[in-house]
Amino acid sequence: MIQKVEITIDGKTVELPVLEATEGTNVVDVRGLIAEGIYTFDPGFLSTASCESRITYIDGDKGILMYRGYPIEELAENSSHMEVCYLLLCGELPDQAQLSEFVQDIKSRMPVDDQFKHIFDAFSESAHPMSMLCAAVGGLASLYHDGLDIFNAQHRRESALQLIAKIPTLAAMTYRKTIGAKFIDPDPELEYAENFLNMCFGEPGVSSNVSATLASAMDKIFILHADHEQNASTSTVRLAGSTEADPYAAIAAGVAALWGPSHGGANEAVLKMLAEIGDESRVQEFIDRAKDKDDPFKLMGFGHRVYKNFDPRATVMQASCHAVLEEQGIEDEPLLKIAKQLETIAREQDYFIDRKLYPNIDFYSGITLKAMGIPTNMFTVIFAMGRMPGWVAHWDEMLGSPFKIGRPRQLYLGPSKRDYVDINDR
Ligand code: ACO
Repeated sequence: MIQKVEITIDGKTVELPVLEATEGTNVVDVRGLIAEGIYTFDPGFLSTASCESRITYIDGDKGILMYRGYPIEELAENSSHMEVCYLLLCGELPDQAQLSEFVQDIKSRMPVDDQFKHIFDAFSESAHPMSMLCAAVGGLASLYHDGLDIFNAQHRRESALQLIAKIPTLAAMTYRKTIGAKFIDPDPELEYAENFLNMCFGEPGVSSNVSATLASAMDKIFILHADHEQNASTSTVRLAGSTEADPYAAIAAGVAALWGPSHGGANEAVLKMLAEIGDESRVQEFIDRAKDKDDPFKLMGFGHRVYKNFDPRATVMQASCHAVLEEQGIEDEPLLKIAKQLETIAREQDYFIDRKLYPNIDFYSGITLKAMGIPTNMFTVIFAMGRMPGWVAHWDEMLGSPFKIGRPRQLYLGPSKRDYVDINDR
């Protein structure tokens, strides 16, 4: 096993230690290079480990995803989102008493302060739900900032509970705002996913009639999205959190990073793309565009930075997707036919096979959410709800051990020093 690597710079050899991972790739510790006046260059962080972490492990080639050592397939099959939240935060699966207490802790924190609800008055009904979610999550700092000590583990746990508890309530409020409907308060009798669906689609003052299949599919979506190690939004939470920023602000930064179509916005982009294709007869035309180097078009819901074989979450999501389609009786919906054809063609053609481009979780979650009657502009909001335990677990892990402010270097390619020229002489 390699213990160290040597690099030679201007005739001088520098030894760099190799740090051993419990699973997967070991890393070369380049921290000593700064003393030699050298920076490394790695745009997009393709070969850079930014931190140590004990939360989630991914092997992209083998299609493995594990939370705290438990394979995602087993968690999706046997556990609930609340169990997964506990696991990510605490490191172990809860026993029955611990789970009951945790569920109560979450339920008791779900209601949102009446005055705080007015934050939604500032938005028009046409506002994108993600813009409202960013603002509302960041706005929570106004309620919980004073007296918060981020270096106190109990305070961090309280912030984590508040964020996991409040996100479904705020997410449902963004939806109710877009349809100009009255908010529905959380119901302490309902489980997490059902509560969210009822706050979106229920009637104020009327008991929930959310179907068990839909509540279970939503819970599975949350489990599958709960964490994904150092992805763009989680790294953003860590970077913002490394400045010792308020946790609600750091998480709002994560929500913002998730919004982009290369990340959490992909599930929304999948549905937009299917609608743009519009008809099965045009699928090949869009496949050709995706392959054309001169066309920026990409097949949304295909490819992944880490998974270069298959996305294990997509496999679970595909099964859940079929259960929802069957329950809703819409297996022959035109957009779904287009999706199936796209998937088949992409799996058969060399361009996609050579580049290891497979349907990712967003492909199937987009279709499932659409079948559940969720409006397209809410898809990324739902991803954010699912990812919340991962964000807070990573934030807590970072704050709970020695860390440095995240501050990358750069390769400067701008002008060298030059003299200021008076405006009349330019
Ligand atoms: N459609 C067509 N071609 C693609 C696609 C796609 N969806 N994705 C990658 N490629 C091609 C690239 O053009 C490139 O081709 P080349 O080697 O001939 O230049 C090759 O495959 C490698 O692609 P990269 O962009 O280098 O891969 P990277 O790992 O940087 O990007 C990403 C991964 C951003 C996910 C990309 O595949 C993509 O944009 N996919 C569509 C958006 C999407 O579904 N995002 C969801 C990500 S998963 C998540 O956030 C949960």
